[in-house]
Amino acid sequence: MSASFKLGIVGGAGWLGGAIAGAALSAGVVQAEDVALSFRSVKPDRFPRSFWTDDNQALADRCDVIMLSVRPQDWPSLKLDAKGKLVVSVMAGIRIAEIGEKHGTRRVVRTLPNAAAEVGKSYTPWIASSDATEVDRIAVRAIFDACGVQDEVGSERDIDYLTGLTGSGPAFPALLAEAMMRDAVAFGLSPEVARRAVNTVLTGTGRLLELNDASPADTVAAFLGYRGTTAAAIETMREAGFDEAVAKGLAAAFLKSIAMGKA
Ligand SMILES: NC(=O)c1ccc[n+]([C@@H]2O[C@H](COP(=O)([O-])OP(=O)(O)OC[C@H]3O[C@@H](n4cnc5c(N)ncnc54)[C@H](OP(=O)(O)O)[C@@H]3O)[C@@H](O)[C@H]2O)c1
Repeated sequence: MSASFKLGIVGGAGWLGGAIAGAALSAGVVQAEDVALSFRSVKPDRFPRSFWTDDNQALADRCDVIMLSVRPQDWPSLKLDAKGKLVVSVMAGIRIAEIGEKHGTRRVVRTLPNAAAEVGKSYTPWIASSDATEVDRIAVRAIFDACGVQDEVGSERDIDYLTGLTGSGPAFPALLAEAMMRDAVAFGLSPEVARRAVNTVLTGTGRLLELNDASPADTVAAFLGYRGTTAAAIETMREAGFDEAVAKGLAAAFLKSIAMGKA
C-alpha cells in the first residue's frame, strides 16, 4: 500500500463513519474518488463524488484500507473478507483478534475516536496488531490526525479504559454544563441566557486549554490560589464527592466497554 490509498468505510452512512470521511476529505488525506462508503437501509446524499454501495464485499475489494464503523451489535452479522488488507475498526469493545479472524486478515488496527471528529477535534487512541506495517500506521495516523489528535497506545486494555474516558467525548463536559445550567435556571436566569453563559464557558475553556496546553491540575490550582469565589465552589464540590463521582462513572464505563466485547 502506498502513502495514497483508497479508503472504504463500512457503515459510512452513520454518524461516526460520515464524520471521519468528511474530516479525511477536508484534510486532503484522500480524494473523493478514492473513498467508498457502504449503507444498509438508506443511501445518503453526502459525498456525491464518492462510491456508495450496499455491498460490503464490493467495497472491500476496491479499497486498500477497510474501516468498520457499524455498531458493535451489528458486527456479528457483517460478512466481509478483507483478504489480508488493513482493517481499521472504530467499534467499541471488539478486540483485534476477533476482527482479524472474522475478516481474513492479520493487519488490524483498533481505534476509538469520539463524536468531535465531526469538527476535527476527536481524541483517537489506537493500537495495531503485530502484523500491521509501518505504512499501515502512516495511513492510520493521517486519517485520525485529520479528525483531531491521535495516539498509539500500549494495550487493548488502554483502549477499553479510553472508551469511557474519551470515547464518550463531549458527554462529560456536557453533563457538567447541564448541571450548571439547571442551577442557573433554578436561580432565576432565563434558559437562553443560562445556555449561552454555560456554553461559552465550555468553549472558552477548550480554547484556553488548546492555546496554553495547560494541565487541568495547574488550572485548578491557579483558581484555588486566588482564594475567591472559584475556590469556594471547587472546595465545596469536592467535599460533596465530585472526584469520587467521576472515578465511579469512569470505572462503570470501563466495565461496560469490556462487557460489550464479550456480548
Ligand atoms: N458516535 C460516536 O460518538 C462513537 C464514538 C466512538 C466509537 N463509536 C463507534 O462507531 C461505530 C458507529 O457508531 P455510530 O455512532 O456512527 O452509529 P450509527 O450512526 O448507527 O452508524 C452505524 C451505521 O452502520 C450502518 N450499518 C449497520 N450494519 C451495516 C452493514 N451490514 N452494512 C453497511 N452498513 C451497516 C447503519 O445503517 P442503518 O441506518 O441501517 O442502521 C448505520 O448507518 C460503533 O461501533 C461505535 O461503537 C462511535
